[in-house]
Amino acid sequence: MTSPRDGAFLRATRGEAVDHTPVWYMRQAGRSLPEYLKVREGVGMLESCMNPDLVTEITLQPVRRYGVDAAIFFSDIVLPLKAVGVDLDIVPGVGPVVARPVRTLEDVAAIPDLTPGHVRFTTAAIRSLVAELGPTPLIGFAGAPFTVASYLVEGGPSKDHALTKAMMYGAPDVWDALLGKIAGISAAYLRVQVEAGASAVQLFDSWAGALTPDDYRRSVLPHSAAVLAAVAGLGVPRIHFGVGTGSLLPLMAGAGADVVGVDWRTPLASAIPLVGDRAVQGNLDPTLVLAPTEVMTSRAAEIIDAGRTAKGHVFNLGHGVLPSTDPDQLKRLTEFVQGY
Ligand code: CP3
Repeated sequence: MTSPRDGAFLRATRGEAVDHTPVWYMRQAGRSLPEYLKVREGVGMLESCMNPDLVTEITLQPVRRYGVDAAIFFSDIVLPLKAVGVDLDIVPGVGPVVARPVRTLEDVAAIPDLTPGHVRFTTAAIRSLVAELGPTPLIGFAGAPFTVASYLVEGGPSKDHALTKAMMYGAPDVWDALLGKIAGISAAYLRVQVEAGASAVQLFDSWAGALTPDDYRRSVLPHSAAVLAAVAGLGVPRIHFGVGTGSLLPLMAGAGADVVGVDWRTPLASAIPLVGDRAVQGNLDPTLVLAPTEVMTSRAAEIIDAGRTAKGHVFNLGHGVLPSTDPDQLKRLTEFVQGY
């Protein structure tokens, strides 16, 4: 294997034959790794994301330890907002917190569009990473409009997304302006990452499962589709993932990605017929990595078997690696998937 294009990950996203099922994990870098906790000592999350040397090191850590088939760029979905000047922080144990939540058209208009000049540290980090990674592909990512809007409207993490949905139902003009603004920022951020050398991109709509199919189709899908369309011509596969999206999968597939990420609640075998002529990614329950090894690997085997009936299959967890995960167990899972 000489270039990322020939490797199992990119081949699977294109629906080509692979010598093993490729595997990577959402949140494979981060708090489950002692080497991550060590380099992060005394450095804030956003500060880390803006330091190309640290981003390079943290992104490489899980590749070294697990031998996964792809790296995911170490950043956060709110980083581009921070880069254009939105006053926010990522609070340990809480998540993104926004100082002045968005409520009006004026609030939306005050958010600048993203230009490459806002994220020069991203370009620098990706160039250095791609050189270090060699044949291992790098996945760039951005937050989807609904999930990012939820942080901007609620001012922080939310279980029910009540203020966000209240805006969607009650102030459709503000809603469309806000989602259009975020779509533009996410598309520009993805483009920067691909132009710097990322081999694939993933659009994270983690909280889309809070929506009914009708609301998703009317108020959210057009904006996610716009992000995916904006990077369609760049020659890299686009992955579209959300959590709790069992009833949304056909719509999410219709938003135009090449690969549909499936969360752990939906059996992969039932997801495959819902996504059309597309590859799938997923979807072992992250808590199974905390289970006895034989339990974990037997469930992984079922998922790989189901994945063989899809156009292509990239193995992943059905959401991010849990902080309490034992890295040795994730290493065993990786070896099992690659050798199955
Ligand atoms: O390994 C990777 O997947 C790449 C890094 C990555 C992070 N955030 C690093 C991070 C990615 C892809 C994200 C995306 C992200 N951020 C999403 C979508 C993916 C998902 O998990 O659904 C969302 C919803 C966010 C918002 C966010 N940022 C949350 C909910 C949190 C966790 C808060 C907490 O402390 O429990 C963050 C912070 C964050 N992003 C951390 C990391 C490693 C933890 C901060 C730390 O280590 O100090």
